[in-house]
Amino acid sequence: MKYEVTKCVCNNISFEEMKTFAVRNEIQSIEGLVNVLQVATNCRLCVPFIKKMLATGKTKFEIVSHDEK
Ligand code: FES
Repeated sequence: MKYEVTKCVCNNISFEEMKTFAVRNEIQSIEGLVNVLQVATNCRLCVPFIKKMLATGKTKFEIVSHDEK
């Protein structure tokens, strides 16, 4: 089964919202986002996706469950 990761679940902020904020405020690093938005402040499982979002502009990331192996 495929799932899409679209947000920092702990803080309920979508990658789309983060991207919009980052572009408007010329933020290019995850540290910049963490300093001004409440993202990646708990489990930090969203960190690799936020980094990819900043690098590529993508806001949805497909993951595959281990059940498909
Ligand atoms: S999903 Fe972002 S801190 Fe948990």
